[in-house]
Amino acid sequence: MSELNNNDAKRPKIKIDHLTKEFYSKKKKIIAFQDINLEIGKGEFWCFVGPSGCGKTTLLRVLAGLETATSGTVEVLQEDSTKPLNSMVFQEHAIFPWMSVYDNIAYGLKNRRIPKNAVKEIVEDYIEKTGLNGFAKTFPYQLSGGMKQRVSIARAFANDPEILLMDEPFASLDEQNRLILQQELLQIWESNRKTVIFITHSIDEAIFLSDHIMLMSGHPGSIKNVFDISFDRPRDMTSIRSTPNFNECFSTIWGQLREEVKR
Ligand SMILES: Nc1ncnc2c1ncn2[C@@H]1O[C@H](COP(=O)(O)OP(=O)(O)O)[C@@H](O)[C@H]1O
Ligand SMILES: [Mg+2]
Repeated sequence: MSELNNNDAKRPKIKIDHLTKEFYSKKKKIIAFQDINLEIGKGEFWCFVGPSGCGKTTLLRVLAGLETATSGTVEVLQEDSTKPLNSMVFQEHAIFPWMSVYDNIAYGLKNRRIPKNAVKEIVEDYIEKTGLNGFAKTFPYQLSGGMKQRVSIARAFANDPEILLMDEPFASLDEQNRLILQQELLQIWESNRKTVIFITHSIDEAIFLSDHIMLMSGHPGSIKNVFDISFDRPRDMTSIRSTPNFNECFSTIWGQLREEVKR
């Protein structure tokens, strides 16, 4: 494991510099996003919000290394080369249908040849934290959408990546389950403070979860604004929602997002 020196401590976890991504289809150029400049600190929770098609997913895929940028750079400060740098959680439950809940959560750990006892301890811990008690041997087809998403989240955290990249993980859930999973996600995050980038189309969700919100302009996406969200932690949605500060945040962000959606 590489030790952090003083210089590293001051470096951002992710530094995005003049990042642009273009696609070419049928000789037509599609600019997915352009000239993104952003510094994300270690342990920060960021939400990316923006109109549909503004390049959020593509940006996340570039950050995950699944896609290469057309120009610009992404620098990621890797602190422990024995662990995965990032893990992704998708909107659709990207869990293996042929594996039990236990095996899905254990998957990344087993791949890293972590001793069986240690795997068991970690998996059981995340089963507990994500409210999947009693479901270890269950298969995905036997689970509701909310439960499957819990498995995705448990697997991503169990993997212990330095950065979590989440692409609208709660978008397909009903309101009640979404509220419960948001609260659970924050509880897990409070206990290990991973660097998180979370895409959402819900302003409520972004305010509730994040330290910072990056609002993107409509297609082709660029940064329209960055908002700092300063509610105390640990947070509780019910109490935050009823504050004047929440309403003010919501209307400012919605005012700017609406302009982009209508554009
Ligand atoms: N593989 C691809 N090939 C061509 N165009 C793409 C590809 N992926 C995304 N795009 C285009 O890039 C733009 C941004 O897409 P996306 O990142 O999915 O936006 P968002 O996640 O914000 O809805 C859209 O115009 C989309 O059609
Ligand atoms: Mg998307």
